[in-house]
Amino acid sequence: AAAEKGGYQWFMDKEIHEQPKAVADTLLGRTDASGALILDELRMDTAVLRRTDKIIVIACGTSAYAGHVAKYAVEHWCRIPVEVELASEFRYRDPVLTERTLVVAISQSGESMDVVMAVRHAREQGAKVLAICNTQGSTIPREADAALYTHAGPEVAVASTKAFLAQITACYLLGLYLAQLRGNMFADEVRGVLRQLHQMPEAVQTVLDRTEDVRKLARELADAKSVLFLGRHVGFPVALEGALKLKELAYLHAEGFAAGELKHGPIALVEDGQPVFVIVPSPDSRDSLHAKVVSNAQEVRARGARTIVIAEDGDDAVLGSADVVIRVPRVPTLMAPLVTVVPLQVFAMEVASAKGLDVDQPRNLAKSVTVE
Ligand code: G6P
Repeated sequence: AAAEKGGYQWFMDKEIHEQPKAVADTLLGRTDASGALILDELRMDTAVLRRTDKIIVIACGTSAYAGHVAKYAVEHWCRIPVEVELASEFRYRDPVLTERTLVVAISQSGESMDVVMAVRHAREQGAKVLAICNTQGSTIPREADAALYTHAGPEVAVASTKAFLAQITACYLLGLYLAQLRGNMFADEVRGVLRQLHQMPEAVQTVLDRTEDVRKLARELADAKSVLFLGRHVGFPVALEGALKLKELAYLHAEGFAAGELKHGPIALVEDGQPVFVIVPSPDSRDSLHAKVVSNAQEVRARGARTIVIAEDGDDAVLGSADVVIRVPRVPTLMAPLVTVVPLQVFAMEVASAKGLDVDQPRNLAKSVTVE
C-alpha cells in the first residue's frame, strides 16, 4: 500500500501533489500546433451550442464548487447566463429548461446518484446535457448527450483534490470553446487565455513547493473549534471548498462566506482568536475587488480574529491586515482558484493528520455516493 501511495503517507497527499499533472493532462491534446483550441471530441452539434441561451451546472460537493468557479469565467467570456445548482435540489424543483438550455453535469466518479437523477430529469425536459467527468464509461457521461473528460487519473482519497483542479480546467476549455464558436472572443484572445492555462501546472507546483508554513499553521490550529473562510468573486467558491475540506477531513466546524456578506451576519461570529482565512484576489483584478477583500480582512481582525491571508507574491497591501500570510504566485484573476485552493487542501489534510484521523477515509463519507 505504501508503494501505491508513491511514498506519501496518504493518497490525498499524493493526489494533491499530482495536481500540476492533472491540469496539464486535462489540457493535453486540446490545442493544435498553432495554440488554437480543438474540442471536436465533444461531438455535440455546434448548432446546438451556438443557440444555447442558458447554462445550468449540476453537481454535488466539490464538483459543484468547480462549477461555481466556472460560472465567473463562462459568463465573462460567453455572455451566457450560468446557474449552478446542487443536483439534489435541481432534481426536486421544477427547473425551467428548454431545448436551448445546456446542462453541464460535473462529476469525478460519474456515478453520484443525485447527478444521475438530475441528468435524467434534464433530458426528459428536452435540455442538452454535457458531462464533465473523470471516469471513462461511467453512468453520467453515458447518459449525457456529450462528454468532456478530465484527465486527473484515478482519485482514491474520499476528499476530492486533483479532480477539482481538472474540473475547473475542463470547464474553462468548454467556456473558451463556446466563446470562440459564438464569436464572443477572437481566436487570438482564446489563445491568450489558453497560454495562461498552460502556465498553471507550473504555478501550482510553486505552491506545492512551499507548503511548510501552512503545515506548521495546521498543527498550531489543530485544536480550533471553528474556522471561517472569506472570499469574493472566484475566491468565494474557494472559501466554500476550503471549509468543506476541513469539515470532511478534520471534523471541524468550518464555514465559507462571500466576503461582502460579512456585515450582513457572519461578522457577529468573530471573537478573540477566531481563525479566519481570507482569500485575497490579485491587486490587478478588476474594479476594487482587491481593496474590498483587504478591508474585509481588516474588519475581522479589528474584532479579534486571527487572519490567515492567502495573497499573491509581492502584494504588500495585505501586511497590515494579516497575522499570517500564505503566498501564492501571481496569476490572472480567473486562474487564481487553481493556486489559492491548494494551501487550503494541505491545511485540512494536515489538521486531520495532527488529530490522528484517517485522512483518506473520513468517517461517514463515501468516495462516490450511489444512493439518493
Ligand atoms: C462525495 C465525495 C466528494 C465529492 C462528491 C461528488 O460526496 O465525498 O468528495 O465531491 O461526492 O462526487 P462526484 O464523483 O460526483 O464528483
